[in-house]
Amino acid sequence: MTATLETSAMTTAVRLTGVHKSFGAGRSAVSALEGVDLSVAPGEFVCLLGASGCGKTTLLNLVAGLERPTAGDITLSTSRPAVMFQEAALMPWLTASRNVELALRFGGMRRAERRGRAAELLELVRLAGLGDKRPHELSGGMRQRVALARALASAVQGSRDGSPALLLMDEPFSALDAITRDVLQGELLRVWRATNTAVLFVTHDVREAVRLGQRVVLLSSRPGRVVREWSVDGLEPADEAVAVDEINTSLREVISSHAAA
Ligand SMILES: Nc1ncnc2c1ncn2[C@@H]1O[C@H](COP(=O)(O)OP(=O)(O)OP(=O)(O)O)[C@@H](O)[C@H]1O
Ligand SMILES: [Mg+2]
Repeated sequence: MTATLETSAMTTAVRLTGVHKSFGAGRSAVSALEGVDLSVAPGEFVCLLGASGCGKTTLLNLVAGLERPTAGDITLSTSRPAVMFQEAALMPWLTASRNVELALRFGGMRRAERRGRAAELLELVRLAGLGDKRPHELSGGMRQRVALARALASAVQGSRDGSPALLLMDEPFSALDAITRDVLQGELLRVWRATNTAVLFVTHDVREAVRLGQRVVLLSSRPGRVVREWSVDGLEPADEAVAVDEINTSLREVISSHAAA
């Protein structure tokens, strides 16, 4: 039951070994994860799929250090993974720029440097010139871009010592319309290539997983554990369609076993 920080031999951004997580005790205990083994390499983009309630958010929370595993080990090579959720969760009284700066502040960066860095990150997510807007003045898609810039700020912050950055994303685009989602998926890929951050991305959408990920990992129904994974890096469009079909079939099997449980 440990969560350790790896300082030497940084061959993984995060490694989970035999991770179990239960909530509650006695007869009302819920086993959310059981024996999860999963590694993400530095700079790798891994997508996580599974039925609703199979423990995906729990897994991200464990990696983020928001929860502790009941058993098993989590080895991280960054001191502070960054997280991004379905809702942007920005501070409503702060401007877009200040929301990003806040993530840099925890790292002790000076004010002027924070401003400059926030402006760079907002430019990276194509929000240059909108740094003075408050969240209510922005669209949902723009707010998610600010959240992405903020997450990148904390990812970079958490890896200042040169260790690989890690970004944890929990269905970050699922509340957006299809066109905005498509644009933001493209932006995320561009930003990922530019920053070489490792990404662990939870989604319900197989197409999204295949488009974004280099590897797609399927969790079983609760209690979740890794049942299958696919390498989907650099597939030609025809092969991508085959992978989407195959993964959809496996996901449907997992969901129907969940419904029957
Ligand atoms: N803090 C908690 N206390 C008690 N039970 C919890 C807690 N967090 C999660 N659970 C339970 O653990 C299981 C896994 O939940 P989790 O939120 O990780 O699922 P998920 O795969 O993210 O689902 P979804 O796809 O719907 O977001 C569920 O049965 C849930 O009720
Ligand atoms: Mg969830």
